[in-house]
Amino acid sequence: MRVLSVASECVPLIKTGGLADVVGALPGVLAAQGVEMRVMLPAYAGILDKLEGPLEEVWADWNLYSAHARLLKGRLDGLTVLALDAPHLYHRDGGPYADTNGDYWDNPERFAALCWAAAAVAREGMGDGWKPDILHAHDWQAGLAPAYLRYFGDGGVKSVITIHNIAFQGVTGGNRLEDLHLPWHAWHPDHAEYHGNISTLKAGLSQADAITTVSPTYAEELMRPEFGMGLEGVIAARADDLHGILNGVEAGTWAPETDTAITPYSADTLKEKTKNRDALRAEFGLDDIPGPLAIVVSRLTWQKGIDLLIEALPAFIEAGGGLALLGSGERHLEQAVQDAARRWPGRVGVKIGYDEDLSHRMFGGGDAVIVPSRFEPCGLTQMYGLKYGTVPVVAATGGLNDTVIGATPASLSANAATGISFHPVDTIALSGALRQLIALYGDRAGWTRLVKRAMKAEVGWEGPAKAYADLYRSLTA
Ligand code: ADP
Ligand code: GLC
Repeated sequence: MRVLSVASECVPLIKTGGLADVVGALPGVLAAQGVEMRVMLPAYAGILDKLEGPLEEVWADWNLYSAHARLLKGRLDGLTVLALDAPHLYHRDGGPYADTNGDYWDNPERFAALCWAAAAVAREGMGDGWKPDILHAHDWQAGLAPAYLRYFGDGGVKSVITIHNIAFQGVTGGNRLEDLHLPWHAWHPDHAEYHGNISTLKAGLSQADAITTVSPTYAEELMRPEFGMGLEGVIAARADDLHGILNGVEAGTWAPETDTAITPYSADTLKEKTKNRDALRAEFGLDDIPGPLAIVVSRLTWQKGIDLLIEALPAFIEAGGGLALLGSGERHLEQAVQDAARRWPGRVGVKIGYDEDLSHRMFGGGDAVIVPSRFEPCGLTQMYGLKYGTVPVVAATGGLNDTVIGATPASLSANAATGISFHPVDTIALSGALRQLIALYGDRAGWTRLVKRAMKAEVGWEGPAKAYADLYRSLTA
C-alpha cells in the first residue's frame, strides 16, 4: 500500500501547530502497518538545505503559476520527503502562510500549486516509478488535491482528506475559479462554491472518497452548527464516509523515562519529577508554590480559551496555585498573560515565544497542564501531560474529551480518572476545575494515584495507525 500525504507542514521541517507533528509521525507509524507513505510539502525557503541529498527530481512543470516548478525527492530522519521547489511561490520572508502584514495575498494559488502537482504525480506516477494507491490530503491547504483528481482524472488513485481544524477553510473569491484551475461545474454548492466564494476545504470535503478528522468526538461535533463553522451540512451529508481517528503521541520524542531535556523519571520514580519542578520554578522565576504548579504550552488564540484562564486565575493563585506559561499568538492575549506575570511575581511566569526544548522541561516539571479550549479537534498537549504525569485539566470538547477521563467521585473510586475535565467551556466551569485541582493536589496519596493512572493512559500511535491502514485498505479493496 502506497500513500502520498500532502500537507503544508511536517515535523521536523516546518511547524506552526499539531498538524506538523501528525504529518511527520504518520509515515513512521504506518510503516509498521505495511503502508509506504511519502510526504509532499512546499519547499519553503531553507527546506531543501535540511534534506539529505542527493535530491532527485521526480516531476517538473515549466509553467506552474508563471514560473518553473520541480518536485524534489529527499530524505530526512527516515522520511521520504517530496518538496515542491517553486521559489516564486514559497520563498517569502515571513512564515509559511503570513508575514507581519498578514496572510500572503496569493495563498490560494500557492497551495493550489501544491495540490496541482500532487494530483499530477498521483495520477501519472513519479519519475522514479513510484505511484500511490491513495492521496491523503490534510486541511484546506491540500483540499484541492482530491478535487483535481475528481475533475481531471484520478488514474485509479483514491483520496482521503483529514480535517485538523475546521476553523481554517481556505475561503477566497469566486473570481479565482479559473486561477485555481477549477472547472466551471465546480462552481456549485455541492462542490467548491461556498456562499458566493470558493472554499478549498469544501472542495476537498465534497470530492474526496473519505473524510477523517482527528478525534471521534470532533467527528460528531463537526456535524453541528456550534462546531461545523458553516460546513456542518457538507459534513453531515457525508456522515457515512466520515471517520474520527485520534492522533497519537510520538513515543521517541515524548517519554519522561528517556527525555534528554529533563531529569528522567517513571511512574515508579516520581521523586525525580520534583527535581524537574524545582528547575522549572527557577527557570520561570517562581517561588516555593504551596499548591499545584500548572503549565500552559499553547498558541495564544481565542480557540485555546486563554482569556478564560486569565479570568479564572486570581482565585487559583489566591488558593495557592502557580502558573508557568509558554506561548505566542494574538497580541492582546500575549499582553494579558504578561500582565498576570507582573501582577503575581513569583507565582506566575510567562515566556512569549516558541521553544520546543522548554516545552519538554515544562511537561517534566509541571504538576498539571491546563487546556481550556473552546474547541479542540484533537489536542496534543493534554496527551503529553498524561505521559509525563502532568495531570491534564481540560475542557470536555473534541479530542480532549476522548483522551482524558475526568475526576469524579465515581471515576476516582474506580481508579479510572486520568485528569480533570470541565463543561461548559466558560470561566465558571474552569474556575470549578481549578478548585478541584487544588483539592486533589492537597490529598497527597490521592494525587499520586491520579498521576500514576494518567501515566498509564494509552496515547500511542498503534491504534490510530491501524485505523488509517484499515481505512486505506477499505478504499482500495
Ligand atoms: P494546535 O495544533 O491547535 O496548536 P495541538 O495541541 O494539536 O494544537 O498542537 C500544538 C503543538 O505545538 C504541540 O506539539 C505543542 O507542544 C506545540 N506548541 C504550541 N505552542 C508552543 C510553544 N510556544 N513552544 C513550543 N511548542 C509549542
Ligand atoms: C489542529 C487542531 C489540534 C490537533 C492538530 C493535529 O491544529 O487545532 O486540535 O491536535 O490539528 O491534528
